[in-house]
Amino acid sequence: MFDYKGLTALITGASSGMGAEYARELAAQGSNLVLVARRLDRLEELATELRSAFGVTVTCLDRDLSATGAGRSLAEELLAQGTEIDVLINNAGFGTNGSVAEQDPDAVVNELNVNVVTVTELTTGLLPGMLKRDRGVIINMASLAAFQARANHALYSATKAYVLSFTEALWGETIGTNVRVTAVCPGPIATEFFSVAGTTPPGKPMEVSVPIKAALAAIDARKPFVIVAKPGMRIASKLIRMLPARVALKLGK
Ligand SMILES: NC(=O)c1ccc[n+]([C@@H]2O[C@H](COP(=O)([O-])OP(=O)(O)OC[C@H]3O[C@@H](n4cnc5c(N)ncnc54)[C@H](OP(=O)(O)O)[C@@H]3O)[C@@H](O)[C@H]2O)c1
Repeated sequence: MFDYKGLTALITGASSGMGAEYARELAAQGSNLVLVARRLDRLEELATELRSAFGVTVTCLDRDLSATGAGRSLAEELLAQGTEIDVLINNAGFGTNGSVAEQDPDAVVNELNVNVVTVTELTTGLLPGMLKRDRGVIINMASLAAFQARANHALYSATKAYVLSFTEALWGETIGTNVRVTAVCPGPIATEFFSVAGTTPPGKPMEVSVPIKAALAAIDARKPFVIVAKPGMRIASKLIRMLPARVALKLGK
């Protein structure tokens, strides 16, 4: 099992949902934390809880990861101050709905920046240090949506397909090193995700602890990705790739 004790973990989107749960789990395992999100008050509240419960060091950073170059400047800032990040959890993300034709141009850039560009910039910025120290973990939050393009969810599915593809390739590049990489592909999880997206979950969402335990187990097993969903959805996500695109797109509506 990977030993997180004494390492420093950077967790994006730690003010809510799965990011906050990663923080709790890694603090319980003895990691020091750097927590990032826009809602600093929420991060500070979580930090106070974790410092007192587990005696770990927690730094909170108020950053808008939709800003151009946000991931790159965060990685450079951490490197410049000598903070060695051995565990990177690229968790911040959100989804939008609506047809491609009705998207707001600024909202499109924000979604691509948070879900894709920042994930890539933080990974490329922090991976060299992990390889040099020959230890590290990178967990990238994809989604079941990565497996299926869906009309009226084009951007979100495409961003998560990118995260899955990028992470699988990175997994291939890090074989033979002690840097472990996985992409997590959850179905609906009980977080603020659906209220932020302005939708409702299809069926009863899973508890937030489930994907976090699955992610850490996938790191231990060195899996390139892990699907976290009820059996029906898990099988459907695999079968959908075998259908002709025109059939899959109709089913996904
Ligand atoms: N819940 C699900 O059903 C589900 C399923 C599959 C995959 N996912 C993925 O899992 C990840 C975590 O989502 P969640 O379900 O935990 O949702 P959530 O409760 O809405 O949390 C999203 C987190 O992302 C942060 N974030 C969003 N935009 C940001 C920005 N511009 N700058 C900095 N931080 C930003 C939010 O922090 P602030 O608002 O404070 O900035 C928040 O901490 C996402 O990548 C999501 O796509 C979720």
